[in-house]
Amino acid sequence: IQVLSATSELYPLIKTGGLADVAGALPLALKDQGVAVRSLLPGYRKVMAKLQEPRIVKTYQNLFGCKAALLGDTVAGHDIYVLDCPELFDRAGGPYTDESGKDWDDNWQRFGALSKVAADIAIGKVEEWQPQILHAHDWQTALSLAYVRYSKVANLPKIMTIHNLAFQGRYDASVFKQLGLPRNAWAMNGVEYYGGTGYLKAGLSSADLITTVSPTYSNEIRRPENGMGLEGLINHREKDVHGILNGIDDDVWNPPEDPFITKQYSSRNYQMRRQNRFDLETEFGLFHDEDPLFVVCSRMTWQKGVDMLIEILDEIVPMGAKFAILGQGDKSIEKGFLAASQRHPGRIGMKVGYEEPIAHRMQAGGDAILVPSRFEPCGLTQLYGLKYGCIPVVSRVGGLADTIIDANEAAVSLGCATGVQFYPPDTFHLKQAIVRTMKLYKDKVAWKSMQRAGMKADFSWGRSAARYVDLYRQILSTYEEKNT
Ligand code: ADP
Ligand code: GLC
Repeated sequence: IQVLSATSELYPLIKTGGLADVAGALPLALKDQGVAVRSLLPGYRKVMAKLQEPRIVKTYQNLFGCKAALLGDTVAGHDIYVLDCPELFDRAGGPYTDESGKDWDDNWQRFGALSKVAADIAIGKVEEWQPQILHAHDWQTALSLAYVRYSKVANLPKIMTIHNLAFQGRYDASVFKQLGLPRNAWAMNGVEYYGGTGYLKAGLSSADLITTVSPTYSNEIRRPENGMGLEGLINHREKDVHGILNGIDDDVWNPPEDPFITKQYSSRNYQMRRQNRFDLETEFGLFHDEDPLFVVCSRMTWQKGVDMLIEILDEIVPMGAKFAILGQGDKSIEKGFLAASQRHPGRIGMKVGYEEPIAHRMQAGGDAILVPSRFEPCGLTQLYGLKYGCIPVVSRVGGLADTIIDANEAAVSLGCATGVQFYPPDTFHLKQAIVRTMKLYKDKVAWKSMQRAGMKADFSWGRSAARYVDLYRQILSTYEEKNT
């Protein structure tokens, strides 16, 4: 099976969050199961700098008013296509925002162009290769499904994966005219979305199959609280919606072979974590003592619930908790943590920024990782926590509900608890969860049993990739039937 994966991020080429981890790991896992994936991504400055031996596979004189070239290459084991369009992508700053964190004004154009090119590859406008399936990730490439659907050239199976419904690519109605889609695409079951242009909406209504990244989230988004305006559509497409849990890339997140940590270890000698813990404390300017070390490694946004933690730090720290915090995002949240770290020197350490190596060291040295999300489609850091023996303390939502077994009395007595869950996500329950975690931490037998159970849990990609393969097969045979 040949698949085009259209994505705006792919680890190790470009990453702002979990989407990159998934778009980077899933193709490799699928390869092991006989699926050949090529990934299309934007030629951001960082991506262009990592190309090895790019070949030009197609040129554009006028792609949304810009000159562009589609390049093919193989990088880090991935067959990739890169949209080299300097006017849209060769800039300082991040994939979606400028250096000050403000969304680029022309994101509709940047990701409209990317989607158009994904569709071109899908319908056979690139000579060297044509996929059998188009698989798009999130709003940035969602429009590609509409381009294929409304093209007169060819049709092929289209799959839309939702990583986060909070980001939808919603623009003015006037944007539609500039997309080059036929007029009939402006419809309730097309691109139109509450009177405006909806990229993710267009993808969801054009997709043959919709997937999202955990079973619980696939149910949550059917209700208004989490559907973010798309719950009607999701309910309407109910039988085509599948929740498939993300996995871990074992080549990247693996304590025995992790190059970023001081002391490698395995489930057999995880006491070696002590050295990593000591070094992490040093790195974050924390005291060296026996108090539990909580880590947070997260985008600093409302979704992640980290603002709730700021509110309770002054109460929790005197009870004997220490915190190492890494993240960037909302300035007010960053400031809140920085101020707290100044109030509690040696007990709260905060780093503002995005640092892959530190993220690894936090998992290897922290006692517990806090993920107090208000909603969480899947979440990956709690999975890394399990694998690294860093106990996840999470709200019981989305993928967090599906991946962690709460240390209630039954689970502890059976030895199958892997973390601590709380619900609802508010300051009161978060605080209770932290207090409960500190109690568990004192019970060395229970704590070790949790670490061992977590490290044994298998969240590698194999099983989840197999589910994607099933869907690919299913949709291919549906199309074959249609065509005969
Ligand atoms: P989301 O995609 O919503 O941000 P996930 O838990 O799925 O959440 O994925 C987050 C990914 O980004 C993980 O790989 C995590 O380690 C990484 N990450 C988040 N913030 C930082 C940071 N400040 N520095 C390094 N890595 C980070
Ligand atoms: C999104 C979600 C996160 C998920 C990631 C990868 O960024 O917020 O929960 O793990 O995508 O699917």
